[in-house]
Amino acid sequence: MILLLLSCTFDGLDQSVEYSETRQAIALASEQPIFQEHPEAEDLNPEPNIFQMDLIAARKQHEIVDWMRDETIVVDGYAYNDLLPGPTIRVKIGDRVIIAFQNDLDAPTTIHWHGLQVPEDMDGVPWNRDPVMPGESYNYEFTVQTAGTFWYHPHFDTEHQANHGLYGAFIVEDPADPEPRGISIILDDWPFPYQDDDLNEEHFNQKHLEGVWTVNGVVNPKIQLSDSHRLRLINSSNTGFLDLAMEDAQWIGADQGIRSQATGLDELLLVTGDRADILTNGGVLSAHPYSHLGGERFGESKALFTVESELPAYSLSNWNFSQETPTPDSGRTDGYYSFQGDPRTSRWLINGEVFPEITIQEFEFGTTQILEIRNVSATEHPFHLHGLKFEVLSVNGTAPDFKQIEDTFNIRPFQRVRILIEMDNLGDWMTHCHILPHAENGMMTVLRVK
Ligand code: C2O
Ligand code: CU
Repeated sequence: MILLLLSCTFDGLDQSVEYSETRQAIALASEQPIFQEHPEAEDLNPEPNIFQMDLIAARKQHEIVDWMRDETIVVDGYAYNDLLPGPTIRVKIGDRVIIAFQNDLDAPTTIHWHGLQVPEDMDGVPWNRDPVMPGESYNYEFTVQTAGTFWYHPHFDTEHQANHGLYGAFIVEDPADPEPRGISIILDDWPFPYQDDDLNEEHFNQKHLEGVWTVNGVVNPKIQLSDSHRLRLINSSNTGFLDLAMEDAQWIGADQGIRSQATGLDELLLVTGDRADILTNGGVLSAHPYSHLGGERFGESKALFTVESELPAYSLSNWNFSQETPTPDSGRTDGYYSFQGDPRTSRWLINGEVFPEITIQEFEFGTTQILEIRNVSATEHPFHLHGLKFEVLSVNGTAPDFKQIEDTFNIRPFQRVRILIEMDNLGDWMTHCHILPHAENGMMTVLRVK
């Protein structure tokens, strides 16, 4: 057991937190587990359009059974409602959501609703307000406006807390969809051995490649489809990217709902924080080793899970894809972000600034703005924006083939990405790289809608 005294400076607050961590391997023989749908949060409110639940964050010991390597990884971590992942929250578009949160950790925390457009005081960012202190509670309350696959996680000492098990799926169903439900699947990786203070990029890349990926906490399960072809995939890893492929599958949904058109799954890069909805008739979902230092695919791909189906084949013609093409780029630029840094120094900046010493860019409420983001580093960075959503207009001057709305978008080394944002939510919105050690080391800023 290692006792660490950690000084958390994430989100600009200085808090000393004591915690312990044990990781050990225990031999344990087993065979491919059958996937069970993850427990869903119970709605405590009788009103049809109000969803209400209690959520508690506390310590928990996780046991990750790696049946393929015949070992169990034991992690002294945390959990929401004693579950890994936390309970799946499932609501429908237009619902009012009330979450009574209780912090039973020995550290401050918050909850951020990744991808949802909520009021600023519900967004769970403590940069200009207090986090929820140990033993305290907070009521999160908001209305969900967009259907899609979202997730929740802390936004205080995020790299450490999320990496130790604090995350869950947040599904917003659109009853008009041909298959509104979908199976919610959180993919996370458990690099082993692991040290929290190891921020050397080469090292953690290597560990993530060698580590084990879990599917709702389980290694490589077999999923038996009985009522839905739709899988809602979420990558909750703090640094690991997934280069996914599946033969008999179609990619239908992105961060903020259904795409303008479906495409096959020869290559789907699911970066940290990203979501993708797919339809499948069965097969193996595999991931190729991927380094966010860029470059070609290498090594053997590994199975993340197997799907077996008793259902008749899905039909894409039931879906009303809009077929819309991306909005034309007017060429105007209303703001810039440049992502800089070097994996050898682990110093990460946006526009030359290290959070929280930042300049806030301000935009008028009700306007539409075009931002240009340049990655001037040799490392990929998933750009994530709170409170708002955006459409990618072009990457290195070329418009994407399809229209899709995002909140997390990977920017490859030396790429120039132009995005369109409707400034339709008042507030101070965090903007950061979703490789959490990059965010924690400064790659974070704030965009203000006033
Ligand atoms: Cu998923 Cu600011 O985060
Ligand atoms: Cu980054």
